[in-house]
Amino acid sequence: MSTLAGKHIVLGLSGGIAAFKSAELCRALVKAGVTVQVVMTQAAEHFMTAVTMQALSGRPVYTSQWDPREANNMAHINLSREADAIVVAPASADFMSKLLHGGADELLSLMCLARPIDQVPLIVAPAMNREMWSNPATQRNVAQLKADGIHVLDVGQGDQACGETGDGRMLEAEEILEDLEAFFTLKVLAGKAVLVTAGPTYEAIDPVRGITNLSSGKMGFAIARAARMAGATVTLVAGPVHLPTPRGVQRVDVRSARQMLDAVQLNADAADVFIATAAVADWRPSHSADQKIKKDGSGQTPELSFVENPDILATIAQSPRGASGDLFCVGFAAESQDLLAHATAKRIRKGVPLLVGNIGPATFGQDDNALLLVDASGARELPHASKQALAVQLIDDITHRLK
Ligand code: CTP
Repeated sequence: MSTLAGKHIVLGLSGGIAAFKSAELCRALVKAGVTVQVVMTQAAEHFMTAVTMQALSGRPVYTSQWDPREANNMAHINLSREADAIVVAPASADFMSKLLHGGADELLSLMCLARPIDQVPLIVAPAMNREMWSNPATQRNVAQLKADGIHVLDVGQGDQACGETGDGRMLEAEEILEDLEAFFTLKVLAGKAVLVTAGPTYEAIDPVRGITNLSSGKMGFAIARAARMAGATVTLVAGPVHLPTPRGVQRVDVRSARQMLDAVQLNADAADVFIATAAVADWRPSHSADQKIKKDGSGQTPELSFVENPDILATIAQSPRGASGDLFCVGFAAESQDLLAHATAKRIRKGVPLLVGNIGPATFGQDDNALLLVDASGARELPHASKQALAVQLIDDITHRLK
């Protein structure tokens, strides 16, 4: 379940072409279980109608501080007191400068000024032309807004409505949603660095063929996302998978087990936690042909022989930092049966304090899973749930085990 579920958010729109993304953001928030109260400036109404935002939020929109629907005629007080957060998206250059100076000549800025500063966080998603964004005046304003405790989201990069290209456009709705979810997640891993491997590896036979496995990488990606949400710096070493990089996560793409080992070793020294979810190929062809192996018409099949790949988890777990516990190592075990027995034996063989067992064929490619956490004192089940939900529970469990 999203950390946003049950929250009440005032979604403010100031004037900018990015307001079309606010419609999508509103819908995504509602879908995540948020009640959304939309407040629009007059400038915003040039870009988006209040009717659209009312239909999407399911609540009448406020556009004026003189709104007679409020019994005490104090919409700015009433709306800000009931909010868990005020999110202004888009936040135009003009609106940010108004916030900076404590301007209060219309409802949205008035409400931001009137909010109880320690109880109602203010989050703004800037949206403007690249020249406006890089202008020293805007950059000064952003720095001062941050110093005032306002949470200023990043801007996106790319094509702009004006035809120019650069920094300054508003983040996409799903990126803002992701940042809001992170904002409301307890930062139990703040200051920690987490290294995750995910997906299968691919071991080439020749330039067009290879051996791999059915791992989708979803569990590892979910874990990387949950660790980032919890405040960690996350590096994700991914085998060949077709998954988007979780927001805020540094991703290193690799193909073979040996490339994965190199990438892990490069990043292990800086890590506090190593979580090996990758389904690493146990063997690779002892020889990888430079050119495609062709049929010669005789019906003869090629002879393949294999050599064992390095065990990435065991290598790291048995390194000085892994063995001392300075680097907390977590292994996964994908089994087809006898989960507890195999996971218990594997934990000892790999030399890790925690091993997470799951039934491989039942979970590869799926969005849900069930996990068995095995440590020196026994086993604990995380029952069937979405991989995202399990990832959050696993990160929580690991947090309690850290020195
Ligand atoms: N692992 C690894 N490097 C390998 C093989 C496995 O880092 N060469 C890691 C996996 O990422 C996982 C754990 O070791 O965290 C167990 O992987 P699994 O494939 O279940 O076990 P194997 O070591 O391959 O053992 P077996 O084939 O006997 O099940």
